[in-house]
Order: sequence, then C-alpha cells, then structure tokens
Amino acid sequence: MSRTVYVNGEYLPEEEATVSVFDRGFLFADGVYEVTSVLGGKLIDFAGHAARLKRSLGELEMAAPVDDDTLLDIHRELVARNDIEDGLVYLQVTRGAADRDFAFPEGAAPTLVMFTQSKPGLAESPAAANGIKVISIPDIRWGRRDIKTVQLLYPSMGKMMAKKAGADDAWMTEDGHVTEGTSNNAYIVKGGKIITRHLSNDILHGITRAAVLRFAREAQMEVEERAFTVEEAKAADEAFVTSASAFVMPVVEIDGVTLGDGAPGPVARRLREIYLDESRKAAV
Ligand code: PDD
Repeated sequence: MSRTVYVNGEYLPEEEATVSVFDRGFLFADGVYEVTSVLGGKLIDFAGHAARLKRSLGELEMAAPVDDDTLLDIHRELVARNDIEDGLVYLQVTRGAADRDFAFPEGAAPTLVMFTQSKPGLAESPAAANGIKVISIPDIRWGRRDIKTVQLLYPSMGKMMAKKAGADDAWMTEDGHVTEGTSNNAYIVKGGKIITRHLSNDILHGITRAAVLRFAREAQMEVEERAFTVEEAKAADEAFVTSASAFVMPVVEIDGVTLGDGAPGPVARRLREIYLDESRKAAV
C-alpha cells in the first residue's frame, strides 16, 4: 500500500512526491534529519528531537521550515494517515533548491520532507533478546558529528563492513577510542558502572542517550562519561548501544570477542525496560 508522505506543505502519495534535482540535499548533502520512533501510535521524545533539529539548523545557518507546533502536527498527521502503530517518522530539512554553487544560496526556501516507516513490534525485536555483534572500524567522518547531517555514506559503508564480517554493526574508533556506532551511541559496563563517551563535536548528542543516562542516574546506577578503548570494551562485563530506532540494544560480541556469557547483560536489559516504560508513558 502506498504511503502518504509530506513534502513542503503537501501530503501526497509517495509516488507523486518529488524534490528538485537542484536540491542542495541531493547535490551537497546540505541537509539535516531526525528520526523519531512511534510506539502505540505515539511519538517518543518528540521535544528532544525538535530541539536537536533546531540546533542542527542553527549550526549550519539554515532556516527552520516550520515552527515546533506545526512540526508536531505534521508528525501526528503522518502517523494517523499511515496508520502507524509502531515505527518511525523520518524528517529531513535541506537548504533548498538553487543553481549549483558551493556558496550558500540567498533566499532559497528550505525543503522539508517527512515520511513514516511501519515497524510492527519495534520494541519486541529478537535482536534485543539475543544482543548484537559489532566490529570496530576507524572513524573517518568529518569533525562535526554533533550536527545530524545527511552525510551518511561512511556510516552506511560501516554497516556493510559489519555485514561482510558476519556482524550486525560497527563501532567507530579515533585515537584508539570508540566514538560511537554507525547510527547509535556506544556504552560499556564494568563493575556495575555505565561508561559512555562524553559529549563533544566527536559524536551525535543522542536523544535516547540523554534519556537513558537520566533514567540510569535516577535508578542510582553509576555513570561515567568518558572515552573508552576497544580493548577496554572487549574486557567489559557488558555493552550496549542506544538510538531512537533501537532504544537500548545489548551488544554481546566485539571484534569476535564474546562479552560475559554471550547473553545480554542485566544492566542493558534493565535500562531497556526502564527506557521503554518511561518513554511510552511520556509519549505524545
Ligand atoms: N541515528 N549516533 C549516530 C551517528 C546516529 O546516527 C544516531 C541516530 C545516534 C543516536 O541518536 P538518537 O538517540 O537521538 O536516535 C547516535 C538514527 C536513529 C538514524 O540515523 O536512523
């Protein structure tokens, strides 16, 4: 069945939705995006995603296409029109269409595209029960990973490297330390302490990360925000990743080394449960 997608003020069947060949998102990856999950027909942490979108736009001197209330209305309208119970809403803003020139165009209207992806049972994925395997790869991305741009070629290549190696995902490393996963934030647990890289321009400031660390602290779990090495990760008791689409996902193997007994650890399992419970309660 054809989806209804949103393009610049219009709700259209996906076959009829188009963007200009001169769009700077297409020509320069001059765009930013957000992914918000939907559980039980409601949006998880919409306010966090809207706030980060604003920050990404501001860092790139890009105009906001609509205000927050309108953005929420469009999200809800797409969820309703596409009958999404569990899934995702993808949003992309680009600097708009203009004749090709490296300099930012003056007065181009931003492009706003949004669509849904239905994922029935998103929160009950088998991967969460079994855990995922990751490999480590060098992080060769640009230096402003805190901005959620659509320059996703290297993360995409990283996913393929993982697949070819028989793993599920890749953790990227820089100066011997893990930055983050291809599309998630990375954590290890040692002696009950949750360790995850501190915020800087080196990683995306995950909305799920912020919520999970808040819940962990509220549950009296110890959290340390600092860089860690792959060697440290291999010797950890457990590991996990967080993102809007994976929530809290246990990691059971790093570069072929099994963590603990090879099953998802208690800290990851508990955090996943708390995160899903609390997020569902606060969903809009
Ligand atoms: N990815 N780090 C990177 C590089 C990411 O691409 C993402 C999200 C995260 C986690 O951020 P959040 O918790 O706000 O989803 C961290 C999304 C889900 C994606 O590209 O599909």
